[in-house]
This record gives sequence, structure tokens and C-alpha cells, in this order.
Amino acid sequence: MIQFMLNGQEVCIENAGPTVTLLDWLRETQHMTGTKEGCNEGDCGACTVTVSTLDDSGVTHQAQNACILFLPQLAGKAVRTVEGLTSPTGELHPVQQAMVAEHGSQCGFCTPGFVMSMYTAHRTGRVDHDDVLAGNLCRCTGYAPIIRAAQVAATHPTPPWELDERTALQGLTTDEMGGDGFHLPTTTAELAELYAANPDATIVAGATDVGLWVTKQFREIGPLIFTHRVADLATITRVEGGLRIGAGVTLSRLRGAVADRHPDFAELIRRYGSVQVRNAATIGGNIANGSPIGDGSPALIALGATLTLRSASGTRDMPLEDFFIEYGKQDRQDGEFVESILIPDQIDTLACYKLSKRFDQDISAVCGCFAVQIQDGIVTSARIAFGGMAGTPKRATAVEASLIGHPFTQDAVRVAQDALSQDFQPLSDMRASADYRMQSARNMIRRYWLEQVEKVPTRLVGRQAEEGAI
Ligand SMILES: Cc1cc2nc3c(=O)[nH]c(=O)nc-3n(C[C@H](O)[C@H](O)[C@H](O)COP(=O)(O)OP(=O)(O)OC[C@H]3O[C@@H](n4cnc5c(N)ncnc54)[C@H](O)[C@@H]3O)c2cc1C
Ligand code: FES
Ligand code: FES
Repeated sequence: MIQFMLNGQEVCIENAGPTVTLLDWLRETQHMTGTKEGCNEGDCGACTVTVSTLDDSGVTHQAQNACILFLPQLAGKAVRTVEGLTSPTGELHPVQQAMVAEHGSQCGFCTPGFVMSMYTAHRTGRVDHDDVLAGNLCRCTGYAPIIRAAQVAATHPTPPWELDERTALQGLTTDEMGGDGFHLPTTTAELAELYAANPDATIVAGATDVGLWVTKQFREIGPLIFTHRVADLATITRVEGGLRIGAGVTLSRLRGAVADRHPDFAELIRRYGSVQVRNAATIGGNIANGSPIGDGSPALIALGATLTLRSASGTRDMPLEDFFIEYGKQDRQDGEFVESILIPDQIDTLACYKLSKRFDQDISAVCGCFAVQIQDGIVTSARIAFGGMAGTPKRATAVEASLIGHPFTQDAVRVAQDALSQDFQPLSDMRASADYRMQSARNMIRRYWLEQVEKVPTRLVGRQAEEGAI
């Protein structure tokens, strides 16, 4: 049985199919067709809804993609769809009114998704409209009127009919939730026991990968163990010597947690998927999937992060880079799951360069992350890792060795660039050719030197970069 709030009404679903998506359920069983299906894979934002969650810090409201959100992921939460924005007498919400007034809609297919992203931002006071709307695609209106609508809406207060979901969320009887073919553990210990008893089960965290196995590959998966209710897996803790990030921490929260320590990591995360994807995707899922083009691992490897795996019989730690054995193979035993990542304290020298075909909402062709420490003009340590250059995220050990013990000069850059071919023999695929990847990675080494040593500003931020002003 799954209970959640839908547009202010309590919903109780008996025998929920664990891989039924919120989008299918809304459209096919509730005939609520305002939420649209575009890509069905998290890319277009046509299916955006607002998901509200109650925890110790209060209620948080987040835009998420309903097409890759399974019903059990909503247990104990509140969902608002485009049908739930107007007043009881049909008065438009300020974001809807602004879309009308600013001509923000033509064919209208994308409009409910845009409205829901704008509504969530309005509700939470966000005015970084470019970022907020980067996960919503429109093919006909053009973005200028939509951004204008978001700016206008931001000047209007919350309408008086807006619900505070807190009381309703507190009233949901979350203890009894669960059902056939899936589990909803609430502690790490419970998760460990369940996984030991069901080693063939699929762990589902944010479902931004697993969702596509169902919607695109039509895979039958199960049993499923959902981790989103495991509170101790979603903690960020300051510990001696570093920052411990639980595997269930979403990319949105991770971005906030690292912004002060490693601003370039936070900036890399800003370009990870979209707001909707970052609100669902977890760092544990990003590591556990072993993807060679995942963005989290190269940055974390460059920072010297340690991974903690847990099972019913205990925990074990390893340098993150050792987790990735080869393409599709990680050092994880039956019943073991990713519990946390430790980022050690250090002087921040991290720079992350993500190269993708599109600036926003795109997977990396190459992602290079660099952390080089220099004392008295000599490189004393170097941690350099790349995504997109091998079958796994991988350290550039030959490049690192060529730099350590030498001054970081233009000559050293040339030697390091040549050492790259000892570390990597990249592949050609639809994202980039092998030559392009190698040349780009070489250029990233030079760029890091230009930034760190020569103090040449090599980057423009946000809209400037997107518009190609560089
Ligand atoms: C539109 C879109 C854009 C994207 N853009 C990017 C991008 O820019 N950069 C990028 O790196 N990725 C991107 N991704 C990929 C995806 O968001 C990540 O891989 C994500 O971090 C996976 O996390 P999740 O919580 O959603 O994992 P899930 O989909 O829930 O799980 C992924 C895998 O990890 C396993 N798993 C999850 N948690 C654990 C755990 N604690 N222990 C063991 N196994 C576990 C699951 O069983 C599954 O095999 C994008 C995805 C989409 C749909
Ligand atoms: S339908 Fe495109 S993101 Fe969901
Ligand atoms: S108005 Fe037609 S896709 Fe946006």
C-alpha cells in the first residue's frame, strides 16, 4: 500500500505495481492528462510535477519528472500537478497568468511542464530562471517570452489559496507502506538485511537510470528495494578529516554541500542533467552504475574520495578509483551497497571541465577533473581523473607522475600531455571521436595550467558561456 497527497487530496493505492510511473498512473488511471508525455526519459520536462517532502528541516518542494518516478517513490510525499494550481473558483496561479500575459505558449504541449517548474521556483523563491528551466524544452515559442513570464511571476506573492502540505504530510500513516515485489526500508540496517536476503533485487534510489530501464528498455525488474526513505543514507556529516556524503544524497543537495569547499565541483553539478534530474538522482546511484561518463566520479576521484560499501556483515572502505574494475564491472559483492563517500579536507585546487555537445542537460563527452598542489614552485601532489576516456572513470596516473616533483611550467604541460596516451586509448562513439577526446583532454591539461599558474581566466559563466561569448 502506498499513500501520498495528490493536489491536496490523500491517495491510497493498494497493490501498486512497483514500476508504474507517476506519469502513466496520472494519465491512464486518473485521466489527468495535463501532465504531458514527451520523451519518457527525463530529458524534456513535459511531465514536470512538484514533489513535496517533509523531514526534520521542514517541507521541501522540488520539481521532478513524473515519467521516471515510480509510484513507491512517492510514499509519504505530496504531489502537485498542473491541475492543482488554480484557486477553488478557477483563478489562475500567478505563473499561469504570466505565461498568458507574456505569450509564453504556442502549441502548448510543453506549457504544463514549464508552468510546474516555474510554480516550484515561485513557491521556493528561486529566481535563477535559466537554471530552473534548463530541463524544460520548447520547440515553438522560443525561450525569451517564457523567461519573461517567470520574471513577471516572481514579482507576485504566493496566492492566498496555496496549501501548506505540512499538516497533511504529518497525517500520512507511513509505517504501513510497502507491497508485493518491493520494499521500502527506513534504516541502513534494514536495507542491509533486505539486500542480504534478496541479493538479486534491484536497488532503486532516484530512478534516473533505473526508470529508463523500464520506460525505454521495457525490462522486467524486480524485486525492488527503494532507498529514498532510508534517512541515515541521505545525511551529510562533517567528520574528522572530511565530509561524509550518504549515498542517498541527491545531486541538488550535494551541490549545496560542496559549494563552499569546492566551488568548481558545485559548478560541474549545475551542468548535471537538469533541476528535475538533480532533485531525484543520488550520488550513490551515480557511482554504483559504474558509468564511464558519469560526472560525479571523476571529480570525487580527483578529490581523493573514499567509498564505503556496506552489507549485512559490515562495511569496507576503498579509494573510489579502485571501485571501478572495468566497463560494467565494479568491486561490489552480493548484498553490498554503496553507503557513503568521504571527501577529505584539503586546500581547494579542484577544477572540473565538462565537455558536452550542449551546455545544459547533456551527458559528458569528456569530463576532466584536476587537483594539483604546488609548494615552492614544485608540484607536490597531483590527482587527475577523466570520464569519457576509458571504460570506467579513471585516474591519469602517468600524467600525475610526470608532474610530481617538477615545476608546473609550459614544458611540464607538454610532457604531461604526451603522457596522456599511456593512460588512455579512448573510443569513438556518437558523442565524440577518439581523436577529439584525446585532443580535448590534452587541452584540459593546458587549460588547468593556464588557470592555476598563469592566472588566465579561461571561462565565462552561465548564459555568457552558453551564448558562445568566449
Ligand atoms: C535526463 C538525464 C540527464 C542526465 N544527466 C547526467 C549528467 O549530466 N551527468 C551524469 O553523470 N549523469 C547524468 N544522468 C544519469 C543519472 O542521473 C545518474 O547516473 C544518477 O546519478 C543515478 O542516480 P539515481 O539515484 O537516479 O540511481 P538509480 O537510477 O536509482 O540507480 C542507478 C544504479 O545504481 C544502483 N544503486 C543506486 N543506489 C545504490 C546504492 N546505494 N548502492 C548500490 N547500488 C545502488 C541501482 O541499482 C542502479 O543499478 C542523467 C540521467 C537522465 C535521465
Ligand atoms: S516526458 Fe520528457 S522528461 Fe518526462
Ligand atoms: S509551445 Fe509548443 S513546444 Fe512549447
